[in-house]
Amino acid sequence: MIIKTVKLTNFRNHSEYVLECKDSTSLILGENGCGKTSVLEAIYIATRGKSFRAVDADILKRGEEFYRVEVEYISGEKAVVAYDGESKTFLIDDKKTKRLSKKNKYPVVLFLPSDLNLMSSSPTSRRDYFDRVFGQFDAMYGVSLSKYEKALKQRNELLKKEYLKPDEVFYWNLLLAKYGMEVVLKRKAFIDEINEKLTDVYQSIAENEDTVQIELETMVDGDENGYIKALESDFERDRILGHTRFGVHKDDFIFKFNGKVANGSASRGEVRSIILALKFIEAEMLKKKLGQNPIVLLDDVFSELDETRRRCLVKNFRDNQVIITSVESIE
Ligand SMILES: Nc1ncnc2c1ncn2[C@@H]1O[C@H](COP(=O)(O)OP(=O)(O)O)[C@@H](O)[C@H]1O
Ligand SMILES: [Mg+2]
Repeated sequence: MIIKTVKLTNFRNHSEYVLECKDSTSLILGENGCGKTSVLEAIYIATRGKSFRAVDADILKRGEEFYRVEVEYISGEKAVVAYDGESKTFLIDDKKTKRLSKKNKYPVVLFLPSDLNLMSSSPTSRRDYFDRVFGQFDAMYGVSLSKYEKALKQRNELLKKEYLKPDEVFYWNLLLAKYGMEVVLKRKAFIDEINEKLTDVYQSIAENEDTVQIELETMVDGDENGYIKALESDFERDRILGHTRFGVHKDDFIFKFNGKVANGSASRGEVRSIILALKFIEAEMLKKKLGQNPIVLLDDVFSELDETRRRCLVKNFRDNQVIITSVESIE
C-alpha cells in the first residue's frame, strides 16, 4: 500500500494539515515544535491503531472537541480515524469499528531519535520497543501480552490486600503462566530470527568483521508448571512487597557486540549501525511475514546519520515508501 495523502484535523498543533505523499520518499521539513512528528504519529495511528507516544486525549488539539485523520492510498482505499474526546472510531470502507482490525493494519517501520539510545535506555523502553515490533510480526503476540498485563494488574491489586491467602491468587498464577509462556516463547523465537541476520546486515553497513547479537534476559526458563511454581514460591515475598516479582514483565533485551555487552563497548557510530541493521531486518521480516512492504517513517534521524549510513538507508529502503521529517534540508 502506498499512501497518497494524509489529512489531519485538530491533531496536536495542527488545525488543518494536508501532506501529499510521493510514492518513494517524502520530506516534511520544519523547525522544532512545528508538528512534524505529529504527522508521523497520525500516519501510525491510521495504520497501526494507536499512537507510539501518547493517548488520544493528549493528541486532541487543546480546546477542540474532536480530531480526525484521513489517509488515502493510491489504490483508492481510505482509512479515517475520528476521536470525539471520549473514544476513537475507525472508518474503513464505510465500516465503523472501535479497533483497527488485523486486516486493516498496515506494517510500519518507525525510526525515532530515541531508538538510537535503545541500548543505554531502560529495560522498560527496550521491552516497549520490541513489543511494538513483535506485535506487528504476529498479531497474537499482542493479544497474549495484553492478557498477561491484565492478569498481572489483577494479581498485583490482590497482593495489596491486607489479608490474602495463597489460593486467592491461584487463578491469576495460572493465567500469568499461560500468557507469560506464550510471550516468552515468541520473544525467543523472534530474537533468534533477528540474530540469524543481525551480524551479516551489520557487517554490510559497517564493512568490517564485528559481530552483533541480541540476548533475551528472562527469569523464565522452564515450562508453564515451572512458571506457576515460581509464582507460588514467591507468594509471601510478593504479598509483602505488593507486586509480582517473577515474570516476563521483567524481561530485557541485551545487545552484544563481539560477545560483550554493546552498551559501553560499542562506539556511538557502531551503535548507530547496529540500530540501522535492526531496522533493515524489521522491514525484511515484516515483508516476509505479512507479504506487505512496510511504510518507513523516519523521524529526525536522517540528520543524525553520516553520509555512509544515509546512503545505506536510502539503498535499503529503495522499494519502500519512506516519509522523513527533518529540521534541516537534506540533499
Ligand atoms: N494536544 C495538543 N494541542 C495543541 N498543541 C499541541 C498538543 N500536543 C502537542 N502540541 C504542540 O504541538 C507541537 C508539535 O509537536 P511535534 O509534532 O512533536 O513537533 P516537531 O516534531 O516538529 O518538533 C509542539 O509544539 C507541541 O507543544
Ligand atoms: Mg519531532
